[in-house]
Amino acid sequence: MARDTEQMPQSHKYDVLIIGSGAAGLSVALNLPRHLKTAVISKGELASGSTLWAQGGIAAVLDDEDSIEEHIQDTLAAGADLCHEDAVRFTVEHGRESIEWLIEQGVAFTRDDTEDKYHLTREGGHSRRRIIHAADATGHAVSQTLSDRVRSLPNVEILEQRVAVDLITHRKLSLPGNRCVGAYVLNIEDSHVELFSARFVVIATGGSSKAYRYTSNPDGASGDGIAIAWRAGCRVANMEFNQFHPTCLYHPHAKSFLITEAVRGEGGRLLLPDGTTFMERFDPRGELAPRDIVARAIDHEMKRLGADHLYLDISHKPADFIKSHFPTIYEKCIEFGVDITRSAIPVVPAAHYTCGGVMTDVKARSDVNQLYVVGEAAFTGLHGANRMASNSLLECLVYGKAAADDIARTDADIPEPPTAPAWDESQVRDSDEDVVISHNWDELRHFMWDYVGIVRTTKRLQRAKHRVDLLGREIGEFYSNYRVSNDLLELRNLVTVADLIICSALQRRESRGLHYTLDYPGLLHEAKDTILTPTTFRTRAP
Ligand code: FAD
Ligand code: SIN
Repeated sequence: MARDTEQMPQSHKYDVLIIGSGAAGLSVALNLPRHLKTAVISKGELASGSTLWAQGGIAAVLDDEDSIEEHIQDTLAAGADLCHEDAVRFTVEHGRESIEWLIEQGVAFTRDDTEDKYHLTREGGHSRRRIIHAADATGHAVSQTLSDRVRSLPNVEILEQRVAVDLITHRKLSLPGNRCVGAYVLNIEDSHVELFSARFVVIATGGSSKAYRYTSNPDGASGDGIAIAWRAGCRVANMEFNQFHPTCLYHPHAKSFLITEAVRGEGGRLLLPDGTTFMERFDPRGELAPRDIVARAIDHEMKRLGADHLYLDISHKPADFIKSHFPTIYEKCIEFGVDITRSAIPVVPAAHYTCGGVMTDVKARSDVNQLYVVGEAAFTGLHGANRMASNSLLECLVYGKAAADDIARTDADIPEPPTAPAWDESQVRDSDEDVVISHNWDELRHFMWDYVGIVRTTKRLQRAKHRVDLLGREIGEFYSNYRVSNDLLELRNLVTVADLIICSALQRRESRGLHYTLDYPGLLHEAKDTILTPTTFRTRAP
């Protein structure tokens, strides 16, 4: 079909295309040399993604009593022997300078009431107070500050309401080599897919916890970057380790609002419905055991008692202390009729963080040349089988800078991208059956919660695999026939990441960290990553 020239979608050309505007993407943009023409695209507003909602803070060795070695040891212990020690060391050693950089950018962290220094809180797995924070809304402070800074950069163009569909690679253009040269991007405002050519591409699209029915994550955490990189030929690792945060507010209208682990760090206790504590029965560290242990203990007690939720209580602390440390949580809970200075908070676990992702090295490079992956979408080896609290924003900052530094180092050697064809919409039509998308979206997230959740069995995983294969075929057909929309793209990506999670979980025949299966309750002697390779491994997803 001939295309109406007035409706020809735009094409763009940059040195660097950054897909995603959370802490990871914005760190890359702010650390790049100013001569590089850069685009930051976001499928929502610039300040969106999980970064905006981060509460507890950022882990770093800032106290004289603390040490790099202790932060490293805590991270390794939380990761259940699966962390890559080089990645842990690299991240932790760059902690202090990353925080100093954020302070230079203008992030106003909370100061100590009594001493002239920043207040540090504690969270699960940390043997010391080492979480710097902006009250209980650290992500808001980081997001707003970095967004304002990026908006002031003359070399950076910001394009909101743009959804990356797929990468353009030499392989797709039938050219020699294995280079990424851009992306096709849906402009949500006019529903056209635009061509973005770039010498370097950075995926910073966050995690995939929307694969689960209950999640602490904002809409949009649909694992787009992981699925996109997988389709472009990148390996992914350790997707079975989806972290469940132990404490989200239980209320039909709260949409899994998080109650930060710092509440437990400041003395909050987990309670059964009869008001008794239980964490001491599961781990000597009690409420401050790593997250996998706490979430599993809550799940166990809820199932044992047939309870819809348990409780988190901080009301024994002075009301002023609670209101000043947790103002956002206090206000939010009041909205739902819970005064946390007087009563316990009803809580349930929810999917929170993707520990696995696209495999990268210490410079954030993926398997495809000139394609970098940073933040929650990446697998750097830092988190092992269970991410320690507040290490993820740190990872975004450290690897965001590493990617920018590597782009600066190699810039002079990388030629202009080749010409790529415009997106071809000639064979597709407008969908008249969007119910298929909403139905499949609900079905996927339900069976992921029921069959691939906190406690797994091989039989349930196989059931989930059967269903994800069927959905993959159906969505593939839909994708081939209809014009793309954000909902369809998210569903297409979700079905891919769900498949990667299930296949990884089926491959791991042990219980380690966040992956707990009744069929293999023990630990294997050797701790190994689950690595899936696109050329040798085929999911049925489109
Ligand atoms: P995100 O911040 O999720 O940003 C992703 C970006 O990618 C968004 O701009 C989105 O619009 C864009 N995007 C996605 N797909 C596409 C696409 N196809 N095309 C274009 N753009 C796209 N970690 C900590 O260390 N400390 C904490 O206290 C903490 N608290 C948390 C509290 C909550 C409620 C949640 C949900 C997470 C928390 N985490 C915390 C985890 C941490 O916030 C995230 O891991 C981190 O912010 C991820 O940053 P990111 O830049 O990788 O991705
Ligand atoms: C929280 O504040 O409990 C979340 C911290 C994190 O996910 O690292």
